Amino acid sequence: MKLADRIHSIEESKSVGLAQVVANLRAEGREIISLNIGEPDFPTPDSIIKATKKALDENKTRYSLVQGIRELREGIAKKVTRDNGYHVTYENIILGNGSKHILYNIFQTMINPGDEVIIPSPYWVTFPESVKLAGGVPVFVPTKDLQLDIEEIEKAITKKTRAIIINTPNNPTGAVYPKEALQQVVELATKYDFYIIADEAYEMLTFGGTSHVALASLGEEAFNRTLTVQSFSKSYCMTGFRVGYLVAPADVVEGMNKLQSHLSGNNCTFAQYGALEALEIDQKDIQAMIDDLEKRRDLAYELCKDIFPNTIKPQGAFYLYPSVKEFLGDRFKTDEDLAKFILTDAGVAILPGSFFGTDGYLRFSFAGSEDNIRKAFANIKAVL
Ligand SMILES: Cc1ncc(COP(=O)(O)O)c(C=O)c1O
Repeated sequence: MKLADRIHSIEESKSVGLAQVVANLRAEGREIISLNIGEPDFPTPDSIIKATKKALDENKTRYSLVQGIRELREGIAKKVTRDNGYHVTYENIILGNGSKHILYNIFQTMINPGDEVIIPSPYWVTFPESVKLAGGVPVFVPTKDLQLDIEEIEKAITKKTRAIIINTPNNPTGAVYPKEALQQVVELATKYDFYIIADEAYEMLTFGGTSHVALASLGEEAFNRTLTVQSFSKSYCMTGFRVGYLVAPADVVEGMNKLQSHLSGNNCTFAQYGALEALEIDQKDIQAMIDDLEKRRDLAYELCKDIFPNTIKPQGAFYLYPSVKEFLGDRFKTDEDLAKFILTDAGVAILPGSFFGTDGYLRFSFAGSEDNIRKAFANIKAVL
Protein backbone atom coordinates (compact mmCIF):
# COMPACT_ATOMS: atom_id res chain seq x y z
CA MET A 1 0.00 0.00 0.00
CA LYS A 2 1.10 3.56 -0.53
CA LEU A 3 1.95 5.24 2.74
CA ALA A 4 1.68 8.97 3.31
CA ASP A 5 4.67 11.20 2.55
CA ARG A 6 4.67 12.08 6.25
CA ILE A 7 5.73 8.55 7.15
CA HIS A 8 8.39 8.48 4.43
CA SER A 9 9.80 11.75 5.80
CA ILE A 10 10.66 10.29 9.21
CA GLU A 11 13.04 7.59 10.32
CA GLU A 12 12.10 4.65 12.50
CA SER A 13 13.54 4.94 16.00
CA LYS A 14 16.90 3.26 15.44
CA SER A 15 17.20 2.24 19.06
CA VAL A 16 13.87 0.44 18.75
CA GLY A 17 15.16 -1.16 15.51
CA LEU A 18 18.25 -2.46 17.30
CA ALA A 19 16.08 -3.99 20.03
CA GLN A 20 14.59 -6.20 17.30
CA VAL A 21 18.06 -7.30 16.07
CA VAL A 22 19.02 -8.17 19.66
CA ALA A 23 15.78 -10.12 20.13
CA ASN A 24 16.54 -12.10 16.94
CA LEU A 25 20.11 -12.91 18.06
CA ARG A 26 18.79 -14.08 21.43
CA ALA A 27 16.19 -16.24 19.68
CA GLU A 28 19.14 -17.90 17.89
CA GLY A 29 20.61 -18.71 21.30
CA ARG A 30 23.25 -15.94 21.44
CA GLU A 31 24.00 -14.37 24.80
CA ILE A 32 23.80 -10.60 24.33
CA ILE A 33 24.45 -8.00 27.02
CA SER A 34 22.29 -4.95 26.50
CA LEU A 35 24.16 -1.71 27.04
CA ASN A 36 21.77 -0.10 24.59
CA ILE A 37 18.77 0.22 26.85
CA GLY A 38 17.25 3.40 28.18
CA GLU A 39 15.82 2.11 31.44
CA PRO A 40 17.32 1.07 34.78
CA ASP A 41 16.87 -2.55 35.84
CA PHE A 42 15.47 -1.59 39.26
CA PRO A 43 11.93 -2.84 39.85
CA THR A 44 9.06 -0.36 39.94
CA PRO A 45 8.63 0.53 43.65
CA ASP A 46 6.12 -1.67 45.42
CA SER A 47 3.92 1.19 46.63
CA ILE A 48 3.35 2.27 43.01
CA ILE A 49 2.34 -1.24 41.98
CA LYS A 50 -0.03 -1.51 44.96
CA ALA A 51 -1.65 1.86 44.24
CA THR A 52 -2.16 0.86 40.60
CA LYS A 53 -3.74 -2.46 41.60
CA LYS A 54 -5.94 -0.66 44.14
CA ALA A 55 -7.12 1.72 41.43
CA LEU A 56 -8.08 -1.30 39.32
CA ASP A 57 -9.88 -2.92 42.26
CA GLU A 58 -11.78 0.31 42.76
CA ASN A 59 -12.84 0.31 39.09
CA LYS A 60 -10.83 3.38 38.20
CA THR A 61 -10.90 1.97 34.73
CA ARG A 62 -12.93 4.59 32.86
CA TYR A 63 -12.04 7.71 30.92
CA SER A 64 -10.55 10.46 33.02
CA LEU A 65 -10.43 14.11 32.02
CA VAL A 66 -8.28 14.43 28.88
CA GLN A 67 -5.62 16.47 30.69
CA GLY A 68 -5.43 13.94 33.55
CA ILE A 69 -7.00 13.48 36.97
CA ARG A 70 -7.07 16.67 39.02
CA GLU A 71 -5.26 15.09 42.04
CA LEU A 72 -2.30 14.10 39.91
CA ARG A 73 -2.06 17.50 38.21
CA GLU A 74 -2.19 19.14 41.63
CA GLY A 75 0.41 16.72 43.01
CA ILE A 76 2.74 17.45 40.11
CA ALA A 77 2.25 21.20 40.53
CA LYS A 78 3.22 20.84 44.19
CA LYS A 79 6.29 18.79 43.26
CA VAL A 80 7.40 21.32 40.61
CA THR A 81 6.93 24.24 43.03
CA ARG A 82 8.82 22.38 45.78
CA ASP A 83 11.63 20.72 43.79
CA ASN A 84 12.09 22.71 40.59
CA GLY A 85 12.04 26.20 42.02
CA TYR A 86 9.11 27.81 40.19
CA HIS A 87 5.49 28.17 41.12
CA VAL A 88 2.77 26.47 39.07
CA THR A 89 -0.79 25.24 39.60
CA TYR A 90 -2.65 22.28 38.13
CA GLU A 91 -3.67 24.53 35.21
CA ASN A 92 -0.05 24.46 34.06
CA ILE A 93 0.02 20.65 33.83
CA ILE A 94 -1.24 18.18 31.22
CA LEU A 95 -0.59 14.42 31.34
CA GLY A 96 0.23 12.33 28.28
CA ASN A 97 1.31 8.81 27.28
CA GLY A 98 4.96 9.26 28.18
CA SER A 99 7.06 12.27 27.32
CA LYS A 100 7.40 11.05 23.71
CA HIS A 101 3.70 11.74 23.31
CA ILE A 102 4.07 15.13 24.99
CA LEU A 103 6.85 16.05 22.55
CA TYR A 104 4.72 15.05 19.57
CA ASN A 105 1.85 17.14 20.95
CA ILE A 106 4.10 20.16 21.54
CA PHE A 107 5.10 20.49 17.92
CA GLN A 108 1.59 19.81 16.65
CA THR A 109 0.35 22.53 18.99
CA MET A 110 3.11 25.12 18.60
CA ILE A 111 4.65 25.14 15.13
CA ASN A 112 3.55 25.76 11.57
CA PRO A 113 5.05 24.13 8.46
CA GLY A 114 8.44 25.64 7.68
CA ASP A 115 9.12 26.82 11.24
CA GLU A 116 12.64 26.04 12.39
CA VAL A 117 13.54 24.33 15.64
CA ILE A 118 17.14 24.39 16.85
CA ILE A 119 18.40 21.07 18.21
CA PRO A 120 21.88 20.81 19.74
CA SER A 121 23.62 17.66 18.50
CA PRO A 122 24.05 14.91 19.47
CA TYR A 123 20.36 14.68 20.23
CA TRP A 124 17.80 12.14 21.32
CA VAL A 125 16.36 10.53 18.18
CA THR A 126 12.74 11.48 18.82
CA PHE A 127 13.40 15.24 18.74
CA PRO A 128 13.94 15.80 15.01
CA GLU A 129 11.28 13.30 13.97
CA SER A 130 8.59 14.90 16.12
CA VAL A 131 9.51 18.31 14.67
CA LYS A 132 9.27 16.88 11.13
CA LEU A 133 5.90 15.26 11.83
CA ALA A 134 4.54 18.77 12.42
CA GLY A 135 6.06 20.06 9.16
CA GLY A 136 8.86 21.81 11.05
CA VAL A 137 12.52 21.95 10.08
CA PRO A 138 15.13 20.70 12.57
CA VAL A 139 18.29 22.84 12.59
CA PHE A 140 21.21 21.02 14.18
CA VAL A 141 23.92 22.86 16.09
CA PRO A 142 26.90 20.82 17.32
CA THR A 143 27.80 20.95 20.98
CA LYS A 144 31.39 21.65 22.14
CA ASP A 145 32.86 18.95 24.40
CA LEU A 146 29.25 17.81 24.80
CA GLN A 147 28.20 21.20 26.25
CA LEU A 148 26.00 23.87 24.62
CA ASP A 149 27.84 26.13 22.18
CA ILE A 150 25.94 29.38 22.68
CA GLU A 151 27.81 31.26 19.93
CA GLU A 152 26.97 28.61 17.34
CA ILE A 153 23.37 28.52 18.54
CA GLU A 154 23.09 32.28 18.02
CA LYS A 155 24.53 31.93 14.50
CA ALA A 156 21.85 29.35 13.64
CA ILE A 157 18.94 31.66 14.55
CA THR A 158 16.90 32.95 11.61
CA LYS A 159 13.57 34.73 11.17
CA LYS A 160 11.95 31.29 11.04
CA THR A 161 13.36 30.08 14.35
CA ARG A 162 10.43 29.24 16.55
CA ALA A 163 12.01 27.12 19.30
CA ILE A 164 15.07 25.40 20.70
CA ILE A 165 15.13 22.00 22.39
CA ILE A 166 17.29 21.77 25.50
CA ASN A 167 17.69 18.31 27.01
CA THR A 168 19.39 18.27 30.40
CA PRO A 169 20.53 15.86 31.81
CA ASN A 170 21.21 14.72 28.29
CA ASN A 171 20.56 11.59 26.28
CA PRO A 172 22.86 10.43 24.67
CA THR A 173 25.77 12.24 26.36
CA GLY A 174 24.98 12.33 30.10
CA ALA A 175 25.94 16.03 30.11
CA VAL A 176 24.21 18.33 32.59
CA TYR A 177 24.10 21.96 31.48
CA PRO A 178 25.13 24.58 34.07
CA LYS A 179 22.86 27.45 35.08
CA GLU A 180 24.98 30.05 33.22
CA ALA A 181 24.56 28.27 29.88
CA LEU A 182 20.82 27.89 30.45
CA GLN A 183 20.57 31.58 31.31
CA GLN A 184 22.27 32.41 28.01
CA VAL A 185 19.69 30.28 26.20
CA VAL A 186 16.91 32.27 27.90
CA GLU A 187 18.63 35.53 26.87
CA LEU A 188 18.76 34.38 23.24
CA ALA A 189 15.13 33.22 23.34
CA THR A 190 14.11 36.61 24.71
CA LYS A 191 16.24 38.61 22.26
CA TYR A 192 15.05 36.71 19.19
CA ASP A 193 11.58 35.84 20.48
CA PHE A 194 11.37 32.07 20.38
CA TYR A 195 10.41 29.52 22.98
CA ILE A 196 12.31 26.78 24.75
CA ILE A 197 11.38 23.13 24.99
CA ALA A 198 13.13 21.75 28.05
CA ASP A 199 13.22 17.96 28.12
CA GLU A 200 14.05 17.24 31.75
CA ALA A 201 13.06 13.56 31.83
CA TYR A 202 16.30 12.68 33.67
CA GLU A 203 16.09 15.55 36.17
CA MET A 204 16.54 13.38 39.27
CA LEU A 205 19.49 11.42 37.91
CA THR A 206 22.54 13.59 38.57
CA PHE A 207 25.79 12.53 40.22
CA GLY A 208 28.68 13.76 42.33
CA GLY A 209 27.00 16.89 43.65
CA THR A 210 25.97 18.18 40.22
CA SER A 211 22.50 19.71 40.39
CA HIS A 212 19.93 19.85 37.68
CA VAL A 213 18.67 23.36 36.97
CA ALA A 214 15.11 23.64 35.67
CA LEU A 215 15.04 26.09 32.79
CA ALA A 216 11.63 27.47 33.70
CA SER A 217 12.97 28.43 37.15
CA LEU A 218 15.27 31.10 35.67
CA GLY A 219 12.85 34.00 36.06
CA GLU A 220 9.52 35.14 34.66
CA GLU A 221 10.75 35.50 31.08
CA ALA A 222 12.09 31.95 31.23
CA PHE A 223 8.84 30.56 32.61
CA ASN A 224 6.72 32.34 29.99
CA ARG A 225 8.85 30.92 27.18
CA THR A 226 9.48 27.39 28.43
CA LEU A 227 7.57 24.18 27.81
CA THR A 228 8.99 21.58 30.18
CA VAL A 229 8.68 17.94 29.17
CA GLN A 230 8.67 15.54 32.07
CA SER A 231 8.20 11.86 32.70
CA PHE A 232 7.65 9.31 35.44
CA SER A 233 9.58 6.77 33.36
CA LYS A 234 13.16 7.27 34.49
CA SER A 235 12.86 8.73 38.01
CA TYR A 236 10.41 6.13 39.29
CA CYS A 237 11.23 3.12 37.06
CA MET A 238 7.82 3.36 35.40
CA THR A 239 8.75 3.17 31.72
CA GLY A 240 5.87 0.81 30.88
CA PHE A 241 3.23 2.90 32.62
CA ARG A 242 3.52 5.58 29.95
CA VAL A 243 3.02 8.63 32.11
CA GLY A 244 4.64 11.86 31.01
CA TYR A 245 3.57 15.47 31.39
CA LEU A 246 4.01 19.01 30.23
CA VAL A 247 4.55 22.01 32.51
CA ALA A 248 3.81 25.22 30.63
CA PRO A 249 1.87 28.48 30.64
CA ALA A 250 -1.86 27.72 30.92
CA ASP A 251 -2.73 28.79 27.34
CA VAL A 252 -0.31 26.17 25.97
CA VAL A 253 -1.88 23.51 28.19
CA GLU A 254 -5.33 24.51 26.91
CA GLY A 255 -4.19 24.32 23.28
CA MET A 256 -2.62 20.93 23.79
CA ASN A 257 -5.70 19.70 25.58
CA LYS A 258 -7.75 20.55 22.50
CA LEU A 259 -5.42 18.47 20.32
CA GLN A 260 -5.20 15.60 22.77
CA SER A 261 -8.99 15.40 23.12
CA HIS A 262 -9.08 14.12 19.53
CA LEU A 263 -5.75 12.33 19.43
CA SER A 264 -5.59 10.01 22.43
CA GLY A 265 -7.89 11.29 25.16
CA ASN A 266 -6.53 10.75 28.65
CA ASN A 267 -3.65 8.44 29.37
CA CYS A 268 -4.36 5.17 31.18
CA THR A 269 -6.51 6.07 34.18
CA PHE A 270 -5.16 3.50 36.65
CA ALA A 271 -1.56 4.26 35.62
CA GLN A 272 -2.28 7.85 36.69
CA TYR A 273 -3.09 6.57 40.19
CA GLY A 274 0.24 4.73 40.20
CA ALA A 275 1.93 8.01 39.28
CA LEU A 276 0.07 9.81 42.06
CA GLU A 277 1.57 7.35 44.53
CA ALA A 278 5.05 7.83 43.00
CA LEU A 279 4.93 11.46 44.13
CA GLU A 280 4.69 10.20 47.72
CA ILE A 281 7.87 8.09 47.54
CA ASP A 282 10.42 9.02 50.15
CA GLN A 283 13.31 10.97 48.64
CA LYS A 284 15.66 8.61 50.54
CA ASP A 285 14.45 5.67 48.43
CA ILE A 286 15.00 7.59 45.21
CA GLN A 287 18.42 8.65 46.45
CA ALA A 288 19.33 5.00 47.07
CA MET A 289 18.64 4.27 43.39
CA ILE A 290 20.67 7.30 42.30
CA ASP A 291 23.57 6.21 44.54
CA ASP A 292 23.46 2.80 42.93
CA LEU A 293 23.47 4.35 39.46
CA GLU A 294 26.40 6.53 40.46
CA LYS A 295 28.41 3.42 41.38
CA ARG A 296 27.56 1.94 37.99
CA ARG A 297 28.58 5.21 36.35
CA ASP A 298 31.96 5.20 38.10
CA LEU A 299 32.57 1.57 37.19
CA ALA A 300 31.46 1.95 33.56
CA TYR A 301 33.44 5.17 33.16
CA GLU A 302 36.73 3.56 34.31
CA LEU A 303 36.24 0.46 32.14
CA CYS A 304 35.17 2.49 29.12
CA LYS A 305 38.02 4.99 29.44
CA ASP A 306 40.46 2.09 29.56
CA ILE A 307 39.35 1.08 26.04
CA PHE A 308 38.21 4.44 24.66
CA PRO A 309 40.44 7.14 26.21
CA ASN A 310 38.20 9.98 24.96
CA THR A 311 35.43 9.27 27.42
CA ILE A 312 34.00 12.27 29.30
CA LYS A 313 32.62 11.45 32.75
CA PRO A 314 28.85 12.00 32.56
CA GLN A 315 27.21 14.06 35.33
CA GLY A 316 23.68 12.78 34.77
CA ALA A 317 21.28 10.33 33.07
CA PHE A 318 22.84 6.88 32.51
CA TYR A 319 24.91 7.10 29.36
CA LEU A 320 28.57 7.30 28.37
CA TYR A 321 29.34 8.85 25.01
CA PRO A 322 33.02 8.38 24.10
CA SER A 323 34.52 9.57 20.86
CA VAL A 324 35.87 6.49 19.02
CA LYS A 325 37.27 8.34 16.01
CA GLU A 326 40.74 6.85 16.45
CA PHE A 327 39.24 3.36 16.00
CA LEU A 328 37.80 4.22 12.61
CA GLY A 329 39.72 3.60 9.41
CA ASP A 330 40.37 0.43 7.44
CA ARG A 331 38.99 -2.07 9.92
CA PHE A 332 35.83 -0.14 10.80
CA LYS A 333 34.79 2.58 8.41
CA THR A 334 32.03 4.04 10.58
CA ASP A 335 30.84 4.00 14.15
CA GLU A 336 27.95 1.86 12.93
CA ASP A 337 30.44 -0.78 11.65
CA LEU A 338 32.19 -0.70 15.02
CA ALA A 339 28.91 -1.04 16.94
CA LYS A 340 27.88 -3.96 14.72
CA PHE A 341 31.22 -5.68 15.31
CA ILE A 342 30.86 -5.20 19.07
CA LEU A 343 27.38 -6.72 18.86
CA THR A 344 28.31 -9.73 16.78
CA ASP A 345 31.79 -10.47 18.16
CA ALA A 346 31.62 -9.26 21.77
CA GLY A 347 27.91 -9.95 22.22
CA VAL A 348 27.28 -6.43 23.53
CA ALA A 349 24.49 -4.23 22.19
CA ILE A 350 25.31 -0.50 22.07
CA LEU A 351 24.34 2.36 19.78
CA PRO A 352 26.54 4.29 17.33
CA GLY A 353 26.77 8.07 17.64
CA SER A 354 25.58 8.50 14.06
CA PHE A 355 22.11 7.46 15.29
CA PHE A 356 22.18 10.59 17.45
CA GLY A 357 23.49 12.95 14.78
CA THR A 358 27.25 12.78 15.51
CA ASP A 359 29.54 10.39 13.66
CA GLY A 360 32.45 8.77 15.46
CA TYR A 361 30.91 8.10 18.88
CA LEU A 362 29.34 5.18 20.73
CA ARG A 363 26.63 5.32 23.36
CA PHE A 364 26.85 2.94 26.30
CA SER A 365 24.04 2.75 28.84
CA PHE A 366 25.10 1.96 32.40
CA ALA A 367 21.52 1.37 33.59
CA GLY A 368 22.16 -2.39 33.84
CA SER A 369 23.81 -4.40 36.64
CA GLU A 370 27.47 -4.00 37.65
CA ASP A 371 28.06 -7.63 36.63
CA ASN A 372 26.80 -6.96 33.13
CA ILE A 373 28.84 -3.76 32.88
CA ARG A 374 32.02 -5.65 33.90
CA LYS A 375 31.34 -8.55 31.52
CA ALA A 376 30.44 -6.26 28.63
CA PHE A 377 33.59 -4.14 28.76
CA ALA A 378 35.78 -7.24 29.29
CA ASN A 379 34.25 -8.77 26.13
CA ILE A 380 34.73 -5.56 24.16
CA LYS A 381 38.34 -5.23 25.29
CA ALA A 382 39.02 -8.83 24.30
CA VAL A 383 37.72 -8.46 20.71
CA LEU A 384 39.26 -5.06 20.07
C1 LIG B 1 15.63 12.65 26.59
C2 LIG B 1 14.47 11.74 26.72
N1 LIG B 1 13.26 12.27 26.85
C3 LIG B 1 12.18 11.48 26.95
C4 LIG B 1 12.29 10.10 26.94
C5 LIG B 1 11.06 9.25 26.89
O1 LIG B 1 10.48 9.00 28.01
P1 LIG B 1 9.00 8.45 28.09
O2 LIG B 1 9.12 7.05 28.56
O3 LIG B 1 8.35 9.36 29.09
O4 LIG B 1 8.33 8.56 26.75
C6 LIG B 1 13.53 9.50 26.80
C7 LIG B 1 13.64 8.04 26.73
O5 LIG B 1 14.63 7.44 26.44
C8 LIG B 1 14.65 10.35 26.69
O6 LIG B 1 15.88 9.83 26.55
